[in-house]
Amino acid sequence: MAQPHILILGAPGAGKGTQSANIAEEFDVEHVTTGDALRSNKEMDISDMDTEYDTPAEYMDQGELVPDEVVNAIVDEALSQADGYVLDGYPRNLEQAEELSEMTDLDVVLYLDVDEEELVHRLTGRRMDPETGEIYHVEYNPPEDPEIEGRLEQREDDTEETVKERLRVYRENTEPVVEHYEEEGVLERVDGNQAPDEVWADVKATIEDAA
Ligand code: AP5
Repeated sequence: MAQPHILILGAPGAGKGTQSANIAEEFDVEHVTTGDALRSNKEMDISDMDTEYDTPAEYMDQGELVPDEVVNAIVDEALSQADGYVLDGYPRNLEQAEELSEMTDLDVVLYLDVDEEELVHRLTGRRMDPETGEIYHVEYNPPEDPEIEGRLEQREDDTEETVKERLRVYRENTEPVVEHYEEEGVLERVDGNQAPDEVWADVKATIEDAA
């Protein structure tokens, strides 16, 4: 398949970012991630959009969804510039899924299925290297280099309280999106509880099968 259009779905902490990095490298596609795009624009003034809060940060730090108007514009712009992509973090509700269907067509819709207890453990133990953007986990995937270990940071929304709210928002808003693609018969379910390399083997095979 040349330059595929891939959508990756899953709860917070399911491993979307981890697997998207593999997909982008292996299939030579753009990693389009609304989470990273919003984190880079956290203090953007959105007060003229008739939103409850004035910046994305105020939504994100509480685990709430940033308004559709803001996110739709980010995705539309990113997809229009990419031949092939892996889209991570969008759509997060049925309205966004409707928008997406008007922006592009999809070749593969992956869903990383992970148990809730494991999600909380992964998110509260996640750390990031601010210099490279590389994702680590204190237990599953710690860095070998002590210099990297010393500069690792925890994401502001990875505290236990905010993680629980993110999972609640996911169940309420995003699970219906998963059901929507399942009803359309296009959802490819991957067992995301496995070790990262095993998940990657299944993800890669699923994309290749869809070619
Ligand atoms: P976003 O950044 O998209 O966060 P998320 O969906 O909550 O997903 P995460 O990035 O937390 O998890 P992931 O699935 O990528 O897991 P990862 O690979 O890092 O969104 C953040 C916020 O932005 C939202 O709350 C919202 O406010 C806003 N937002 C974003 N998109 C929006 C939208 N469309 N509409 C409105 N608002 C939006 O892995 C997690 C950890 O587990 C890591 O430490 C990793 O090392 C480890 N790990 C990964 N895979 C495995 C494995 N197989 N085994 C063991 N450990 C593993």
